[in-house]
Amino acid sequence: MKLLRTIALGALVAAALTPAAATASASVTPGDGLALTPPMGFNNWNSTNCRAEFNEDMVKGIADIFVAKGLKDAGYQYVNVDDCWALPTRNAAGDLVPDPVRFPNGIKAVADYVHSKDLKFGIYTSAGTKTCNSAGFPGGLGHEQQDANLFASFGVDYLKYDNCNNEGVDAIQRYTTMRDALRNTGRPIVFSLCEWGENKPWNWASSIGHLWRTTGDISDGYSSMLDIAKQNWALAQYAGPGHWNDPDMLEVGNGGMTEVEYQSHFSLWSIMAAPLLIGTDLRKASPSTLAMLSNRDVIAVDQDPLGVQATPLRTGGLDVFVKPLKNGDKAVLLFNEGDATARISTSAAEIGMPGAPAYKIRDLWTHTDRNTAGTIAATVPPHGSAMFRVSMDRQWVKYPPAVDAAATAPTVYAGAFPLVTGGSTVTTTATNSGRLPALAVNSKVVGPTGWSVKAASSPSTLVLTTNKSFSTKWTITPPAGTKPGHYSLTVTTTYAPNSTSSYTLEVVVPDPAPKAPAYLSDLPWLRTSNGWGPVERDHSNGENQGGDGNTMTINGVTYAKGLGAHAPGVIEYYVAGNCTTVTAEVGVDDEQGTNGSANFEVWADGAKVADSGVLTNAMPAKPLQANVTGATLVRLITADGGDGNSNDHGDWANAHITCG
Ligand code: GLA
Repeated sequence: MKLLRTIALGALVAAALTPAAATASASVTPGDGLALTPPMGFNNWNSTNCRAEFNEDMVKGIADIFVAKGLKDAGYQYVNVDDCWALPTRNAAGDLVPDPVRFPNGIKAVADYVHSKDLKFGIYTSAGTKTCNSAGFPGGLGHEQQDANLFASFGVDYLKYDNCNNEGVDAIQRYTTMRDALRNTGRPIVFSLCEWGENKPWNWASSIGHLWRTTGDISDGYSSMLDIAKQNWALAQYAGPGHWNDPDMLEVGNGGMTEVEYQSHFSLWSIMAAPLLIGTDLRKASPSTLAMLSNRDVIAVDQDPLGVQATPLRTGGLDVFVKPLKNGDKAVLLFNEGDATARISTSAAEIGMPGAPAYKIRDLWTHTDRNTAGTIAATVPPHGSAMFRVSMDRQWVKYPPAVDAAATAPTVYAGAFPLVTGGSTVTTTATNSGRLPALAVNSKVVGPTGWSVKAASSPSTLVLTTNKSFSTKWTITPPAGTKPGHYSLTVTTTYAPNSTSSYTLEVVVPDPAPKAPAYLSDLPWLRTSNGWGPVERDHSNGENQGGDGNTMTINGVTYAKGLGAHAPGVIEYYVAGNCTTVTAEVGVDDEQGTNGSANFEVWADGAKVADSGVLTNAMPAKPLQANVTGATLVRLITADGGDGNSNDHGDWANAHITCG
């Protein structure tokens, strides 16, 4: 990524040497009764950054929506403003001054408005001389008491205290000074440390603040969300009432992830007892975004008063998390990190439930109650998740057996998109984990309008007993002329007593394969993923919006054609066996100075057919040639060279494919 920050290296050492500093004076926490469950609310940063739309109208509008759309009733409480609320200079008295264009009536008027809705108001500054935005708004270092007093006079209930421009002052010292300043105001203020996990705050911050960021900033993409989740889930032991790990604010609704990915994001944050700070502009949110953020079954897991962050029972791609809840129930999350549909399974014994003939299991996304003989399982789509609440319930017989539906289609390699090109086969499977038999089991597949879906084997069975599965084969044909794109096939399995279970399989109708030689930047791709921003055609990677790259330049040589990637990234083409050779001149673009390194691989279906080895900014472009004869799918993979992905702008200059 582009942004390099001032890092207080000395503070790392100080943190290790002076743990006592954290407890030197009476603490804000524990025992002040704040943030006994993870804070829930809103922060504008992920949706607006510093743009003009961040203003009084927005903040008031969010408070209105909290009330009008039931988010307040669902538990969201804090309406928080982030960086860029102040002017770049303090006034003659040394006070921060609200930007009069964004906040013409000042901050107190906004806080008063938020309070009038019986909500709470939060603000932002940095434990440095300036905040993180490049415009350089004043930070709190050296002004702690004056700023804390001002915030208290505004009616602030929550302070996010950032880390930029910290002048190398020890982190414990900087955050303790502000804690004491806040306490001196006499106003209860939740204190959110935002030093990105640099000084391992989980080791020292529980007596300083109520929550601490564990990672760098989230961005609105699956790989960022996953990377942050992984760092945060390893820190479960440090979280508890009044002192939480903070994996950064939610991106749900901002458009950079699929619904499936956002559901995983929200489920992961909830099972990790993370703060739930909505990061989308709710004034523009879709009904499905509002519904996701309002899922009370999932929120109840996040907000459970026992305050335990989930333990990762199993990780490595098909992940299982368990979170004990106050009433003895356990919340379970099954999460599929990867690109291939997979069944993920655990058991009542593995999650630590006492032995019993059966349990009640509630699906927290479909809100249905079932009985299980012990298996807790689901077929989980790529990047997807299933979330349950498992209870001891002597009355388990009241609930139908837990039958889960699944649909799968063959793929060219594990993790490839299931392609539908006419007459494709889909298999549906119903599995009964219940103690009771499922009766009159019947599966039905529904495709988009006009698609032909024919059962090639029986779709029904009379009895499905405990831990038995039943499969049906289907032949799927889209109508001639179907537009290339992603389509959903939904299997719905009905069974007695009175139950349904469904699963949606995403299939892809590819663009026609190339029949003549072409630059790859002139062809439609089947998919891309990219470490930072979108892949660019005939330009380098600009990290943010599409079209923001530069002329591709490797070691001073410029290229008019090619693909601009950012590790880790994949660019995939459907070529249907028509092509023979991929060529490119690969290297790390000059625009990121001297820090980038990447390696460039070409894959033909499931096999790697070319690898550049690690290339750095200092090296000239390397010619790459790959034999892709017979392949259905060709992938260009940009990997990070083994050292993380900072500055890894990978250029596939002159990338070309020979076909026909
Ligand atoms: C840092 C923080 C972000 C946001 C910005 C504002 O990057 O980590 O959450 O507050 O600063 O400039």
